[in-house]
Order: sequence, then structure tokens, then C-alpha cells
Amino acid sequence: MPEAPIVLAAQGLRKAFASPAGPLVVLRSVDLTVRAGESVSIRGSSGSGKTTLLQLLGGLDVADAGAADFLVPGRGLVPARRNLGKGVGFVFQNYQLMPELTALENVLLAARITGGSADAAEARALLEAVGLGARLGHLPAQLSGGECQRVAIARALINRPSVLLADEPTGNLDEATGAEVMRLLLQVVKERGTALVLVTHSREFAARTDHQWVLSNGALSPA
Ligand SMILES: Nc1ncnc2c1ncn2[C@@H]1O[C@H](COP(=O)(O)OP(=O)(O)OP(=O)(O)O)[C@@H](O)[C@H]1O
Ligand SMILES: [Mg+2]
Repeated sequence: MPEAPIVLAAQGLRKAFASPAGPLVVLRSVDLTVRAGESVSIRGSSGSGKTTLLQLLGGLDVADAGAADFLVPGRGLVPARRNLGKGVGFVFQNYQLMPELTALENVLLAARITGGSADAAEARALLEAVGLGARLGHLPAQLSGGECQRVAIARALINRPSVLLADEPTGNLDEATGAEVMRLLLQVVKERGTALVLVTHSREFAARTDHQWVLSNGALSPA
């Protein structure tokens, strides 16, 4: 069987931040390849550069050296930094929902911002897929943390990204809620054939992904 197409490719990513003591090198040389539908986990101690790496992979920040590309259907692999939001979806630890918008509006806003073709029916279907069919009109303040994160997962998927980047998506949730959100996350990406890069501190969650990496000393190595 031919290998699935590459949806995310990083080569030689380097990133340093200025600090009073001189440049703080966070990523020395990171290589990562993710193929369509694959799930990948990245663990690493606090401050090892996991969030920095996800931001480079998704085009939210720019590397000092190296390349980060992702697949935009119809266009092939494109540089992450000039195509923010086009081929990737993000899920953050603290949900990052718009407080004045309902669950449904939060999901739809993501479609409108990128000019995508997704409509209200699709947003509703995604919210139903994450178990929130009865919460469409709720504001974030009227939802539990786990429910907010499920809205964020639906929002991340509305533009049909090739890859979803999730930064400690269960970090703010209690153990049982986190396990349920993780189960849903893994289920919806599998159903939709979306690749997943999951940053997590949990060995248990990491073990459920296809490929496991650890970030330390500015580079990825197999877990
Ligand atoms: N904008 C910035 N300016 C300066 N230093 C930064 C900046 N962003 C991150 N850093 C530093 O880079 C290092 C890596 O940060 P990062 O947030 O990527 O770590 P992390 O692995 O995600 O940690 P955690 O598990 O706590 O979320 C940290 O030492 C942090 O202080
Ligand atoms: Mg982080």
C-alpha cells in the first residue's frame, strides 16, 4: 500500500528568544514528519519548548532557521508562516473561546474568519459529534470546562484542516473529564481522517497515539 501523503513537515527548526543573559535557545534542530490521518504525541518537561514548537508548526510564530510546512488541500505543502489557519486547526489548554458568542457562533466564527465554505449545518454536526448537540446556544460561561474544550475541538475542525495541533488540551480538566475529552478528540480526528499532533504531559494519553516523541535539549527523540 502506498504511504499516506505528508501533511506536516518540519526540518531543522531552530528558535531562540532574547533574554538578559543572552539568547535562550529553545529549539536547536527539530525534524518532524506527519502523514495524513496519523496521530503523534510530544511530551517533555515544562519549558522544554513544546508550545514554541507547536506555534512554529502552525505558523503562529516564525523559526530562526529551518522549514515548517503543512498541507493545504489543492495546493500541496505550503510554508506554515504565510498560511496561518489554512491547513491546521489549534486546540489550546485554556480553550480560547470568544466569551460573548454561543458554542455554535464560536465554531462558525472560525469558518467565517478563514472564508471557508463550512455552514451552520456543518458546525451543528461537529458540535453533535463532540456530544454538545443540546448546548448549541450556551455561552462559554454557561458551559463546563470539558464542554468548552469540546467546543474548541469542533471549532478547530470546522475548516477541515489536514492536521490538528493540540497543546495540552486536557491540562485544565480534572482526570475523568480530561479522559473523556481525550477520548472524543482521538475519536473525531480518526473519524475525519485528520492528523493530530498532541502535546501532553500524560504518558497514558501519549501511548494512544501512533508515534510518540519526547522534546528535550531542543530536539525530538523517540519516546
Ligand atoms: N516569547 C518568549 N520570549 C522569551 N522566552 C520565551 C518566549 N516564549 C517562550 N519562552 C521561553 O522558552 C522556553 C520554552 O517555552 P514553552 O512555552 O515552549 O515551553 P513548554 O514546553 O510548552 O512548557 P509547559 O509544559 O510549561 O507548557 C521557556 O523557557 C520559556 O520561558
Ligand atoms: Mg506549553
